[in-house]
Amino acid sequence: MIIRSTRFIKSAASPPTWPPADVPEVAFVGRSNVGKSSLINTLVRRRNLVRTSRTPGRTQLINFFAINEDFNLVDLPGYGFAQVPLKLRQSWGPMVRAYLAQRPTLRVVVLLFDLRRVPSGEDLQLLDWLEEADIPTIPVITKADKVGRAQRVRQMKPILAETGLPADAFTLFSAVTREGMEEIWARIEAVLEPMAPKGDDAGG
Ligand code: GTP
Ligand code: MG
Repeated sequence: MIIRSTRFIKSAASPPTWPPADVPEVAFVGRSNVGKSSLINTLVRRRNLVRTSRTPGRTQLINFFAINEDFNLVDLPGYGFAQVPLKLRQSWGPMVRAYLAQRPTLRVVVLLFDLRRVPSGEDLQLLDWLEEADIPTIPVITKADKVGRAQRVRQMKPILAETGLPADAFTLFSAVTREGMEEIWARIEAVLEPMAPKGDDAGG
């Protein structure tokens, strides 16, 4: 993917405040602190397009970013962190579910798992829900740099067991080494490609 431009569109919560649904969207979901914002920054090769943090719960609204003015990357708030204020935790479900269920331009969801963690009930519910809703999903296991190569297979086992997905369904990724970045782009492009980019001059 050649990144010609990146633009922060807006932060929004409820459907009426979302930006117009005029280009395809790729959404990033997963528990708080799993590395969603870091993955987006890595994909677009910007250190700080999206704010990241050691403090879980950094992303509290839905953030929309325009890439090449062709499609949007959408950073969704993370779930499952006790330190996040209760009011915010309660608003997570409706906010994210509304987006996933109602956004007409949503094409694919990138669902993140942490290589060092057993998936939570919320991770598994979300995975089931995406399957039922028939939303194409790219499962990614991130923070791969935190585990030595020899330990990877062992660390992945609980993730495979809990999700019921085969190892090759996942892309291993690291925001530190950028391992997996090209593969994630290829998987995103495979979903976006059938759609002609805006300003396409190749016929029509
Ligand atoms: P919320 O916005 O709270 O939902 O978190 P998030 O999923 O957007 O996570 P974020 O990208 O802010 O990353 C959380 C922390 O994990 C930060 O300290 C990142 O630097 C770190 N991190 C993210 N990805 C990686 C990775 O691949 N490797 C390592 N070593 N650290 C990572
Ligand atoms: Mg974030």
